[in-house]
Amino acid sequence: METKNILRDEVVLRRRGDFPFLSTHPELVYFDNAATTQKPQSVLWSQQNWYQNLNSNPLRGMYDLSAKATAQYERARALVASFIGANTDEIIFTSGATMGLNFLALMQTANCQKGDEILVSVLEHHANLLPWQELARRNGARLVYIEPDENGFLSVDALTRQMSTRTKIVALTGMSNVVGNPPALKHISQLIHKNNALFFVDGAQLIAHQAINVHALDIDALSFSGHKLYGPMGIGVLYLRRQLAEQVPPIFVGGEMISEVTRDHFTLAPIPQRFEAGTVNAAGAVGLAKAIEYVQELGMNNIAAREQELTMYLLQQMQSLPAVQILGSANASDHCGLVSFNLADVHAHDVATILASEGIAVRAGHHCAAVLHQFFGVPASVRVSLSWYNTRGEIDKFIRVLATVRGRMGYE
Ligand SMILES: Cc1ncc(COP(=O)(O)O)c(C=O)c1O
Repeated sequence: METKNILRDEVVLRRRGDFPFLSTHPELVYFDNAATTQKPQSVLWSQQNWYQNLNSNPLRGMYDLSAKATAQYERARALVASFIGANTDEIIFTSGATMGLNFLALMQTANCQKGDEILVSVLEHHANLLPWQELARRNGARLVYIEPDENGFLSVDALTRQMSTRTKIVALTGMSNVVGNPPALKHISQLIHKNNALFFVDGAQLIAHQAINVHALDIDALSFSGHKLYGPMGIGVLYLRRQLAEQVPPIFVGGEMISEVTRDHFTLAPIPQRFEAGTVNAAGAVGLAKAIEYVQELGMNNIAAREQELTMYLLQQMQSLPAVQILGSANASDHCGLVSFNLADVHAHDVATILASEGIAVRAGHHCAAVLHQFFGVPASVRVSLSWYNTRGEIDKFIRVLATVRGRMGYE
Protein backbone atom coordinates (compact mmCIF):
# COMPACT_ATOMS: atom_id res chain seq x y z
CA MET A 1 0.00 0.00 0.00
CA GLU A 2 1.32 3.42 -1.03
CA THR A 3 1.73 5.66 2.02
CA LYS A 4 2.90 9.16 2.90
CA ASN A 5 3.58 8.15 6.46
CA ILE A 6 7.21 8.65 7.43
CA LEU A 7 7.01 5.31 9.26
CA ARG A 8 7.44 3.33 6.05
CA ASP A 9 8.50 -0.32 6.33
CA GLU A 10 12.20 0.43 5.79
CA VAL A 11 12.15 3.20 8.42
CA VAL A 12 10.43 0.87 10.88
CA LEU A 13 13.00 -1.86 10.26
CA ARG A 14 15.77 0.63 11.01
CA ARG A 15 13.95 2.02 14.04
CA ARG A 16 13.51 -1.46 15.50
CA GLY A 17 17.24 -1.24 16.09
CA ASP A 18 16.49 1.40 18.74
CA PHE A 19 14.89 -1.33 20.87
CA PRO A 20 17.46 -3.70 22.42
CA PHE A 21 14.71 -6.13 23.45
CA LEU A 22 13.73 -6.62 19.81
CA SER A 23 17.37 -7.33 18.91
CA THR A 24 17.87 -9.79 21.78
CA HIS A 25 14.65 -11.62 20.80
CA PRO A 26 14.95 -11.67 17.01
CA GLU A 27 12.64 -14.67 16.59
CA LEU A 28 9.89 -13.43 18.90
CA VAL A 29 6.77 -11.89 17.41
CA TYR A 30 5.75 -9.53 20.19
CA PHE A 31 2.04 -8.83 19.86
CA ASP A 32 1.33 -7.96 23.50
CA ASN A 33 1.97 -4.23 23.36
CA ALA A 34 -1.28 -3.38 25.14
CA ALA A 35 0.13 -5.18 28.18
CA THR A 36 3.45 -3.38 27.99
CA THR A 37 5.60 -1.91 25.24
CA GLN A 38 9.31 -2.46 24.64
CA LYS A 39 11.69 0.38 25.54
CA PRO A 40 14.04 2.32 23.27
CA GLN A 41 17.73 2.53 24.14
CA SER A 42 17.38 6.17 25.20
CA VAL A 43 14.95 5.13 27.96
CA LEU A 44 17.23 2.31 29.11
CA TRP A 45 20.25 4.60 29.17
CA SER A 46 18.36 7.20 31.15
CA GLN A 47 17.79 4.64 33.92
CA GLN A 48 21.47 3.66 34.02
CA ASN A 49 22.52 7.29 33.83
CA TRP A 50 20.23 8.28 36.67
CA TYR A 51 21.51 5.68 39.11
CA GLN A 52 25.13 5.89 37.97
CA ASN A 53 25.60 9.64 37.69
CA LEU A 54 22.75 11.53 39.25
CA ASN A 55 21.26 9.46 42.03
CA SER A 56 20.20 11.66 44.90
CA ASN A 57 16.84 12.36 46.42
CA PRO A 58 15.16 15.19 44.53
CA LEU A 59 13.35 18.05 46.28
CA ARG A 60 15.41 17.70 49.50
CA GLY A 61 19.17 18.17 49.26
CA MET A 62 20.95 21.54 49.23
CA TYR A 63 23.87 20.11 47.29
CA ASP A 64 24.41 20.35 43.57
CA LEU A 65 23.43 16.80 42.64
CA SER A 66 20.13 16.96 44.46
CA ALA A 67 19.36 20.25 42.74
CA LYS A 68 20.16 18.63 39.37
CA ALA A 69 17.95 15.66 40.24
CA THR A 70 15.13 18.03 41.15
CA ALA A 71 15.58 19.95 37.91
CA GLN A 72 15.42 16.75 35.84
CA TYR A 73 12.36 15.53 37.68
CA GLU A 74 10.57 18.83 37.17
CA ARG A 75 11.67 18.95 33.55
CA ALA A 76 10.02 15.55 33.10
CA ARG A 77 6.81 16.95 34.61
CA ALA A 78 6.86 19.91 32.21
CA LEU A 79 7.41 17.61 29.23
CA VAL A 80 4.51 15.36 30.23
CA ALA A 81 2.32 18.46 30.61
CA SER A 82 3.13 19.73 27.13
CA PHE A 83 2.67 16.22 25.66
CA ILE A 84 -0.96 16.07 26.84
CA GLY A 85 -1.79 19.78 26.66
CA ALA A 86 -1.92 20.39 30.42
CA ASN A 87 -0.35 22.91 32.80
CA THR A 88 2.75 21.69 34.62
CA ASP A 89 1.12 21.93 38.05
CA GLU A 90 -1.68 19.66 36.83
CA ILE A 91 0.69 16.69 36.47
CA ILE A 92 1.00 14.28 39.40
CA PHE A 93 3.43 11.40 39.10
CA THR A 94 2.00 8.07 40.24
CA SER A 95 3.12 4.48 39.96
CA GLY A 96 0.78 3.87 37.02
CA ALA A 97 -2.73 4.09 35.64
CA THR A 98 -4.20 1.89 38.36
CA MET A 99 -2.82 4.03 41.16
CA GLY A 100 -4.04 7.23 39.51
CA LEU A 101 -7.56 5.86 39.10
CA ASN A 102 -7.64 4.67 42.71
CA PHE A 103 -6.43 8.12 43.80
CA LEU A 104 -9.23 9.73 41.83
CA ALA A 105 -11.92 7.57 43.39
CA LEU A 106 -10.57 8.22 46.88
CA MET A 107 -10.33 11.95 46.21
CA GLN A 108 -14.04 11.91 45.31
CA THR A 109 -15.13 10.50 48.66
CA ALA A 110 -16.55 13.81 49.90
CA ASN A 111 -18.13 14.65 46.54
CA CYS A 112 -20.17 11.48 46.30
CA GLN A 113 -23.19 11.12 48.58
CA LYS A 114 -25.81 8.46 49.16
CA GLY A 115 -28.00 8.18 46.05
CA ASP A 116 -25.52 9.95 43.76
CA GLU A 117 -24.65 8.20 40.52
CA ILE A 118 -21.27 7.24 39.12
CA LEU A 119 -21.29 6.34 35.43
CA VAL A 120 -18.87 3.85 33.99
CA SER A 121 -19.11 1.83 30.80
CA VAL A 122 -19.30 -1.89 30.19
CA LEU A 123 -15.92 -1.57 28.45
CA GLU A 124 -13.91 -0.65 31.52
CA HIS A 125 -10.69 -2.34 32.57
CA HIS A 126 -10.94 -3.42 36.22
CA ALA A 127 -8.56 -0.56 37.07
CA ASN A 128 -11.32 1.89 36.08
CA LEU A 129 -14.15 -0.16 37.50
CA LEU A 130 -13.23 -1.53 40.90
CA PRO A 131 -12.24 1.85 42.42
CA TRP A 132 -15.70 3.18 41.45
CA GLN A 133 -17.47 0.05 42.67
CA GLU A 134 -15.70 0.57 45.97
CA LEU A 135 -16.56 4.27 46.16
CA ALA A 136 -20.20 3.50 45.40
CA ARG A 137 -20.26 0.77 48.04
CA ARG A 138 -18.59 2.94 50.71
CA ASN A 139 -20.79 5.99 50.10
CA GLY A 140 -24.10 4.35 49.19
CA ALA A 141 -23.90 5.76 45.65
CA ARG A 142 -25.18 3.95 42.57
CA LEU A 143 -22.90 2.62 39.85
CA VAL A 144 -24.64 3.04 36.49
CA TYR A 145 -23.40 1.34 33.32
CA ILE A 146 -23.32 2.85 29.85
CA GLU A 147 -23.99 0.10 27.33
CA PRO A 148 -21.95 -0.07 24.13
CA ASP A 149 -23.43 -1.17 20.79
CA GLU A 150 -22.80 -4.67 19.46
CA ASN A 151 -19.37 -3.53 18.17
CA GLY A 152 -18.33 -2.31 21.59
CA PHE A 153 -18.74 1.34 20.58
CA LEU A 154 -19.79 3.89 23.21
CA SER A 155 -22.09 6.47 21.69
CA VAL A 156 -23.03 9.89 23.02
CA ASP A 157 -26.68 8.71 22.88
CA ALA A 158 -25.92 5.76 25.13
CA LEU A 159 -24.32 8.14 27.60
CA THR A 160 -27.25 10.59 27.36
CA ARG A 161 -29.67 7.80 28.25
CA GLN A 162 -27.85 7.13 31.52
CA MET A 163 -27.12 10.70 32.62
CA SER A 164 -29.38 12.12 35.30
CA THR A 165 -29.42 14.99 37.77
CA ARG A 166 -27.83 12.54 40.24
CA THR A 167 -24.80 11.91 38.02
CA LYS A 168 -21.70 13.19 39.80
CA ILE A 169 -18.89 11.38 38.02
CA VAL A 170 -18.41 9.80 34.61
CA ALA A 171 -15.31 7.60 34.40
CA LEU A 172 -14.62 6.16 30.96
CA THR A 173 -11.89 4.44 29.09
CA GLY A 174 -10.25 6.56 26.40
CA MET A 175 -9.67 3.34 24.46
CA SER A 176 -10.80 -0.14 25.38
CA ASN A 177 -7.97 -2.61 25.92
CA VAL A 178 -10.14 -5.28 24.26
CA VAL A 179 -11.75 -3.67 21.22
CA GLY A 180 -9.74 -0.46 20.70
CA ASN A 181 -12.40 1.94 19.49
CA PRO A 182 -11.93 5.33 21.21
CA PRO A 183 -15.18 7.13 22.07
CA ALA A 184 -15.86 10.72 20.96
CA LEU A 185 -14.25 12.30 24.04
CA LYS A 186 -14.97 15.92 23.09
CA HIS A 187 -18.70 15.40 22.57
CA ILE A 188 -18.88 13.30 25.68
CA SER A 189 -17.12 15.89 27.82
CA GLN A 190 -19.48 18.63 26.57
CA LEU A 191 -22.50 16.61 27.55
CA ILE A 192 -21.08 15.68 30.93
CA HIS A 193 -20.15 19.24 31.81
CA LYS A 194 -23.55 20.53 30.69
CA ASN A 195 -24.87 18.23 33.40
CA ASN A 196 -22.37 19.55 35.97
CA ALA A 197 -20.67 16.19 36.41
CA LEU A 198 -16.95 15.43 36.37
CA PHE A 199 -15.30 13.57 33.49
CA PHE A 200 -12.40 11.23 34.22
CA VAL A 201 -10.61 9.29 31.51
CA ASP A 202 -8.61 6.10 31.78
CA GLY A 203 -5.90 6.87 29.25
CA ALA A 204 -3.85 3.70 29.76
CA GLN A 205 -4.31 2.53 26.16
CA LEU A 206 -5.13 5.78 24.40
CA ILE A 207 -1.90 7.50 25.38
CA ALA A 208 0.32 5.33 23.16
CA HIS A 209 -1.88 5.43 20.08
CA GLN A 210 -3.24 8.93 19.59
CA ALA A 211 -2.24 12.50 20.33
CA ILE A 212 -4.33 13.81 23.20
CA ASN A 213 -4.95 17.33 24.51
CA VAL A 214 -6.74 17.31 27.85
CA HIS A 215 -7.57 21.01 27.82
CA ALA A 216 -8.95 20.92 24.29
CA LEU A 217 -11.00 17.85 25.19
CA ASP A 218 -12.09 19.46 28.47
CA ILE A 219 -11.28 16.41 30.57
CA ASP A 220 -11.14 16.76 34.36
CA ALA A 221 -8.64 13.97 34.97
CA LEU A 222 -6.62 11.50 32.92
CA SER A 223 -4.58 8.60 34.24
CA PHE A 224 -1.99 6.58 32.36
CA SER A 225 1.10 4.41 32.83
CA GLY A 226 4.58 5.04 31.46
CA HIS A 227 5.25 1.41 30.58
CA LYS A 228 2.55 1.26 27.90
CA LEU A 229 4.13 4.34 26.28
CA TYR A 230 7.63 2.87 25.81
CA GLY A 231 8.69 4.15 29.25
CA PRO A 232 9.67 2.32 32.45
CA MET A 233 7.37 0.33 34.69
CA GLY A 234 6.44 1.88 38.04
CA ILE A 235 5.85 5.41 36.78
CA GLY A 236 2.53 6.88 35.76
CA VAL A 237 0.74 10.17 35.43
CA LEU A 238 -2.44 11.57 36.85
CA TYR A 239 -3.48 14.77 35.13
CA LEU A 240 -5.83 16.62 37.46
CA ARG A 241 -7.49 19.84 36.29
CA ARG A 242 -6.15 22.73 38.40
CA GLN A 243 -9.50 23.80 39.89
CA LEU A 244 -10.21 20.23 40.94
CA ALA A 245 -6.70 19.64 42.28
CA GLU A 246 -7.08 22.69 44.51
CA GLN A 247 -10.25 21.22 46.05
CA VAL A 248 -9.54 17.54 46.59
CA PRO A 249 -7.57 16.11 49.52
CA PRO A 250 -4.25 14.32 49.09
CA ILE A 251 -4.55 10.56 49.54
CA PHE A 252 -1.12 9.92 51.02
CA VAL A 253 0.48 12.18 53.57
CA GLY A 254 4.10 12.29 54.70
CA GLY A 255 7.34 13.86 53.58
CA GLU A 256 7.59 16.66 51.02
CA MET A 257 3.88 17.33 50.63
CA ILE A 258 3.50 19.95 53.34
CA SER A 259 4.03 23.64 53.83
CA GLU A 260 4.19 23.61 57.64
CA VAL A 261 3.86 20.98 60.34
CA THR A 262 3.14 21.47 64.02
CA ARG A 263 2.55 18.83 66.69
CA ASP A 264 -1.08 18.34 65.74
CA HIS A 265 -1.55 20.03 62.40
CA PHE A 266 -0.09 20.47 58.95
CA THR A 267 -0.74 22.71 55.97
CA LEU A 268 -0.45 21.52 52.41
CA ALA A 269 2.26 22.30 49.87
CA PRO A 270 1.00 23.79 46.61
CA ILE A 271 -0.25 21.47 43.86
CA PRO A 272 1.06 19.11 42.56
CA GLN A 273 3.64 18.45 45.34
CA ARG A 274 0.88 17.96 47.90
CA PHE A 275 -0.08 14.78 46.02
CA GLU A 276 3.41 13.28 45.94
CA ALA A 277 4.20 12.28 49.51
CA GLY A 278 7.50 10.51 50.12
CA THR A 279 10.42 9.80 47.84
CA VAL A 280 9.29 10.05 44.24
CA ASN A 281 10.19 7.74 41.36
CA ALA A 282 12.46 10.32 39.78
CA ALA A 283 14.36 7.84 37.58
CA GLY A 284 11.01 6.60 36.29
CA ALA A 285 9.82 10.14 35.55
CA VAL A 286 13.03 10.91 33.67
CA GLY A 287 12.69 7.63 31.74
CA LEU A 288 9.11 8.50 30.86
CA ALA A 289 10.28 11.88 29.59
CA LYS A 290 12.78 10.09 27.31
CA ALA A 291 10.00 7.85 26.03
CA ILE A 292 7.84 10.89 25.28
CA GLU A 293 10.71 12.55 23.44
CA TYR A 294 11.07 9.35 21.42
CA VAL A 295 7.41 9.19 20.34
CA GLN A 296 7.36 12.94 19.71
CA GLU A 297 10.25 12.49 17.32
CA LEU A 298 8.30 9.81 15.44
CA GLY A 299 5.12 11.89 15.66
CA MET A 300 1.94 10.60 17.31
CA ASN A 301 0.03 11.06 14.05
CA ASN A 302 2.60 8.98 12.18
CA ILE A 303 2.35 6.30 14.86
CA ALA A 304 -1.45 6.30 14.56
CA ALA A 305 -1.28 6.10 10.77
CA ARG A 306 1.28 3.26 10.80
CA GLU A 307 -0.76 1.31 13.35
CA GLN A 308 -3.88 1.79 11.29
CA GLU A 309 -2.14 0.37 8.20
CA LEU A 310 -0.92 -2.63 10.17
CA THR A 311 -4.36 -3.17 11.72
CA MET A 312 -5.98 -3.09 8.30
CA TYR A 313 -3.50 -5.66 7.02
CA LEU A 314 -4.05 -7.85 10.09
CA LEU A 315 -7.85 -7.63 10.03
CA GLN A 316 -8.15 -8.38 6.32
CA GLN A 317 -6.20 -11.59 6.75
CA MET A 318 -7.93 -12.62 9.96
CA GLN A 319 -11.32 -12.08 8.33
CA SER A 320 -10.29 -14.45 5.54
CA LEU A 321 -9.95 -17.30 8.08
CA PRO A 322 -13.48 -18.75 8.42
CA ALA A 323 -13.35 -19.76 12.10
CA VAL A 324 -12.17 -16.38 13.42
CA GLN A 325 -14.75 -14.40 15.42
CA ILE A 326 -13.59 -10.84 16.04
CA LEU A 327 -14.85 -8.92 19.06
CA GLY A 328 -15.96 -5.46 18.01
CA SER A 329 -16.03 -3.68 14.71
CA ALA A 330 -15.00 -5.10 11.34
CA ASN A 331 -13.26 -1.80 10.47
CA ALA A 332 -9.56 -1.36 11.11
CA SER A 333 -10.04 2.33 11.91
CA ASP A 334 -12.01 1.35 15.03
CA HIS A 335 -9.27 -0.84 16.50
CA CYS A 336 -6.14 1.29 16.91
CA GLY A 337 -3.86 -1.74 16.73
CA LEU A 338 -5.94 -3.92 19.06
CA VAL A 339 -7.79 -6.98 17.80
CA SER A 340 -9.40 -9.47 20.18
CA PHE A 341 -10.92 -12.63 18.80
CA ASN A 342 -11.92 -16.22 19.33
CA LEU A 343 -11.41 -19.24 17.15
CA ALA A 344 -14.49 -21.46 16.88
CA ASP A 345 -14.35 -24.52 19.17
CA VAL A 346 -10.93 -23.67 20.62
CA HIS A 347 -10.39 -22.03 24.00
CA ALA A 348 -8.48 -18.74 23.91
CA HIS A 349 -5.78 -20.19 26.19
CA ASP A 350 -5.17 -23.04 23.75
CA VAL A 351 -4.89 -20.60 20.85
CA ALA A 352 -2.38 -18.47 22.78
CA THR A 353 -0.40 -21.54 23.87
CA ILE A 354 -0.06 -22.80 20.31
CA LEU A 355 0.93 -19.34 19.10
CA ALA A 356 3.48 -19.12 21.94
CA SER A 357 4.97 -22.46 20.92
CA GLU A 358 5.75 -20.83 17.57
CA GLY A 359 7.28 -17.73 19.15
CA ILE A 360 4.24 -15.44 18.98
CA ALA A 361 3.35 -13.57 22.17
CA VAL A 362 -0.34 -12.65 22.49
CA ARG A 363 -2.63 -12.31 25.48
CA ALA A 364 -5.49 -14.68 26.31
CA GLY A 365 -8.15 -14.38 29.00
CA HIS A 366 -10.56 -11.60 29.89
CA HIS A 367 -7.79 -8.96 29.87
CA CYS A 368 -9.09 -7.49 33.16
CA ALA A 369 -12.30 -6.59 31.34
CA ALA A 370 -14.60 -9.34 32.62
CA VAL A 371 -17.81 -7.29 32.28
CA LEU A 372 -17.10 -6.62 28.59
CA HIS A 373 -16.54 -10.33 27.97
CA GLN A 374 -19.85 -11.06 29.73
CA PHE A 375 -21.45 -8.48 27.40
CA PHE A 376 -20.03 -10.29 24.36
CA GLY A 377 -21.09 -13.64 25.86
CA VAL A 378 -17.62 -15.18 25.80
CA PRO A 379 -15.51 -16.27 28.78
CA ALA A 380 -12.23 -15.18 27.23
CA SER A 381 -10.59 -13.98 24.05
CA VAL A 382 -7.20 -13.84 22.39
CA ARG A 383 -5.79 -10.35 21.98
CA VAL A 384 -3.30 -9.20 19.37
CA SER A 385 -2.01 -5.75 20.24
CA LEU A 386 0.28 -4.07 17.76
CA SER A 387 2.77 -1.29 18.03
CA TRP A 388 4.07 0.80 15.14
CA TYR A 389 7.30 -1.27 15.33
CA ASN A 390 5.55 -4.49 14.34
CA THR A 391 5.84 -5.60 10.74
CA ARG A 392 3.75 -7.15 8.00
CA GLY A 393 6.15 -10.10 8.06
CA GLU A 394 5.22 -10.72 11.70
CA ILE A 395 1.54 -10.52 10.85
CA ASP A 396 2.07 -13.03 8.02
CA LYS A 397 3.70 -15.45 10.45
CA PHE A 398 0.87 -14.99 12.95
CA ILE A 399 -1.74 -15.73 10.27
CA ARG A 400 0.18 -18.79 9.05
CA VAL A 401 0.25 -20.27 12.56
CA LEU A 402 -3.31 -19.21 13.42
CA ALA A 403 -4.53 -21.02 10.31
CA THR A 404 -3.12 -24.28 11.71
CA VAL A 405 -4.54 -24.01 15.25
CA ARG A 406 -7.91 -25.70 14.71
CA GLY A 407 -6.24 -28.53 12.83
CA ARG A 408 -3.76 -29.05 15.63
CA MET A 409 -6.66 -29.20 18.10
CA GLY A 410 -8.32 -31.94 16.02
CA TYR A 411 -10.93 -29.86 14.17
CA GLU A 412 -11.46 -29.66 10.41
C1 LIG B 1 -7.55 0.28 29.66
C2 LIG B 1 -6.61 0.02 30.79
N1 LIG B 1 -6.75 0.70 31.94
C3 LIG B 1 -5.93 0.53 32.98
C4 LIG B 1 -4.90 -0.37 32.92
C5 LIG B 1 -4.02 -0.53 34.10
O1 LIG B 1 -2.71 -0.17 33.80
P1 LIG B 1 -1.52 -0.47 34.83
O2 LIG B 1 -1.58 -1.95 35.09
O3 LIG B 1 -0.29 -0.06 34.11
O4 LIG B 1 -1.80 0.32 36.05
C6 LIG B 1 -4.72 -1.13 31.78
C7 LIG B 1 -3.66 -2.16 31.70
O5 LIG B 1 -3.69 -3.05 30.90
C8 LIG B 1 -5.58 -0.92 30.67
O6 LIG B 1 -5.44 -1.59 29.52
